Amino acid sequence: MKNYLLATAAALLTLLAAPHAEAQRRSNAQNTTPLPTTNNNATAPNTTPTPPGATNGKLDYRNPAADALIPAEADKRQPITDDLEATVVELLELYHDSKQSHWNLRGPLYLSLHEQLQENADAYLKYTDILAERVLEVGHPIDGRTGVVAATANLDGYPSGYLSDQQVLILMTERLNTVAKRVRQRIEHLGKVDETTSNLLQELSYTLDKHVWKFRVMMQ
Ligand SMILES: [Fe+2]
Repeated sequence: MKNYLLATAAALLTLLAAPHAEAQRRSNAQNTTPLPTTNNNATAPNTTPTPPGATNGKLDYRNPAADALIPAEADKRQPITDDLEATVVELLELYHDSKQSHWNLRGPLYLSLHEQLQENADAYLKYTDILAERVLEVGHPIDGRTGVVAATANLDGYPSGYLSDQQVLILMTERLNTVAKRVRQRIEHLGKVDETTSNLLQELSYTLDKHVWKFRVMMQ
């Protein structure tokens, strides 16, 4: 009887220990998995410049070695940025004005004008993105914050509340015409600085002229 009890206890201990043994075996197997080997044949030195630390202790990711990849000479980057930043904030303002009008519109022209304002708003956002990214291409950041748009778009404030169709046509035509003129001046200016950027504004110029024309004929 005593032998029987001892044998049963031993069997139970073996059963309880089995999962731990399996876990230990798996753990050992993981620990022996070889680490990825480095390519010892690579002889070229890593010449990527280390980003300098900024005074605030954060890494500065500016890469001086990328300068040669920027598609505009150093002295042209700021004039390009200035013209495009001005256009971007104007387009963001026109986008907001178009949506404000799209929502609050009233009058017999509601349906056609409501649709046209949405189409215009989409176009302004599209060109905003193209021009903003051109600024990044020439190595500068862009500023599209709402406060900056309100402070620098240099267009009159837009009225709140319901808007009649005729009121919207007058307001938007005037604003579009103002921005279209400014864009034409920038095309001329950038033509002497960077033709690619100047050409980038050509299609926007055509689109703004088209929007002015559509609103003009709707008023007649
Ligand atoms: Fe809508």
